Amino acid sequence: MRQETRRSGSGGKRPLKTLDRALSKAGLGSRADARAWIAAGRVRVNGKLIQSPEHWVDLERDRVTLDGKPVTGRKKIYIVLYKPTGYVTTYKDPRGRPTVYDLLPDGGDFVFPVGRLDLDTSGLLLLTNDSQFAERITNPAYKAPKTYLVKTATRLDEAALDRLRQGVMLKDGPTRPAGVRHLRDSASKTFFEITLTEGRNRQVRRMVEAVGSRVLKLVRVAIGPLRIGALPVGKWRELTREEVRGLLRSAVP
Ligand code: URA
Repeated sequence: MRQETRRSGSGGKRPLKTLDRALSKAGLGSRADARAWIAAGRVRVNGKLIQSPEHWVDLERDRVTLDGKPVTGRKKIYIVLYKPTGYVTTYKDPRGRPTVYDLLPDGGDFVFPVGRLDLDTSGLLLLTNDSQFAERITNPAYKAPKTYLVKTATRLDEAALDRLRQGVMLKDGPTRPAGVRHLRDSASKTFFEITLTEGRNRQVRRMVEAVGSRVLKLVRVAIGPLRIGALPVGKWRELTREEVRGLLRSAVP
């Protein structure tokens, strides 16, 4: 994400953005929306009509108005996306693979992902512009429960599932006790749900390897009380205020 800075009179660095970006970052709409408003003459900066989306502004110092109403602060945005497999959870991929931002409106650069899912993992991914919220959900100290549906390459017996429940030793230390719900077995595979309160890199895959098997399919189905539900793969929606509150209530030290 591009962001420039300039020195303020008092010597600190101040954020400087193009006008379309500043409006979009304020949570009013996409950059395409902002460009349309600017072109339509609905936007003024310090009282002056500006019709170029490339005009640089500093939202902390410049008075920006849309239809005469001041644009201040920024609206908090919370999005849930059903990440498909094959998409990386980064803004740009040096290897040119599709990214989760390809699935969001107008490139989605007004939000950042709350944690990551592996390339081969699908399911519930939160995106927001609220860094405090992201910290609550991702910092293991707050223990926000994250639930995954797992299909393994071999059958796991109850003893192996119990080991996952109690915690296994990984190279970065023992895992915390986890909730494991055995769903079913096929001839040579096991399906179960696991709920973790920490989010280490490739944690579920490494835990399953620690009990002698391999993950064939991994889907994050829930974070706290929020389930992926009927959201189609590759689609997103905004969270309701109640859902945001529920997520925060599930993340306490
Ligand atoms: N655990 C994993 O192994 N991968 C993910 O993407 C998330 C949790």
